[in-house]
Amino acid sequence: MLKKFTPLVAVLSLGISAFAEDTPMEKEMGTMNKAYKALKKSIEDPAQKAENLKFIAQIKKTNDAASKMEPKTLADQPAAAKAAYLEKFKASMADFGKHVDALEAAVNAGNTAAAKAEFDKLNELKKKGHEEFKKD
Ligand code: HEM
Repeated sequence: MLKKFTPLVAVLSLGISAFAEDTPMEKEMGTMNKAYKALKKSIEDPAQKAENLKFIAQIKKTNDAASKMEPKTLADQPAAAKAAYLEKFKASMADFGKHVDALEAAVNAGNTAAAKAEFDKLNELKKKGHEEFKKD
């Protein structure tokens, strides 16, 4: 009895794992999330400049990669709205990238107050980006 069902269970679990697999963008975002969380602990410590620059470089790299990808929510847009939606997404990612550059410049200059302000700005843009382009 159990034997008979084993292939079915195997097929079902394969299906579930395929469903649960991260999209390429989710993978990039996951990397960005780790770097961002790590940075949170040290961004106000100028003595950790080298570490901070390393995390910022990771955020930059993942942002560049994710900017070239398509969010899952693109599939839910009506055909006529897809191009504009994708443009808007790319513009938001580009704006985020500008603030990552500003954060890098502030850390390089040893300007802790400016670095903290840019760090907080990234959080604001993340929330806005998720509201606009991410499903729950
Ligand atoms: C500090 C900045 C950010 C962090 C830490 C972050 C983090 C994350 C995390 C943890 C996920 C979920 C990954 C998963 O489910 O495995 C995610 C997904 C996503 N994020 Fe971000 N995010 C940031 C900025 C942004 C920005 C600026 C945008 C858009 C302008 C954005 C758009 C998205 C989208 C669209 C998804 C869903 C992925 C998909 O559609 O495949 N994120 N993000």
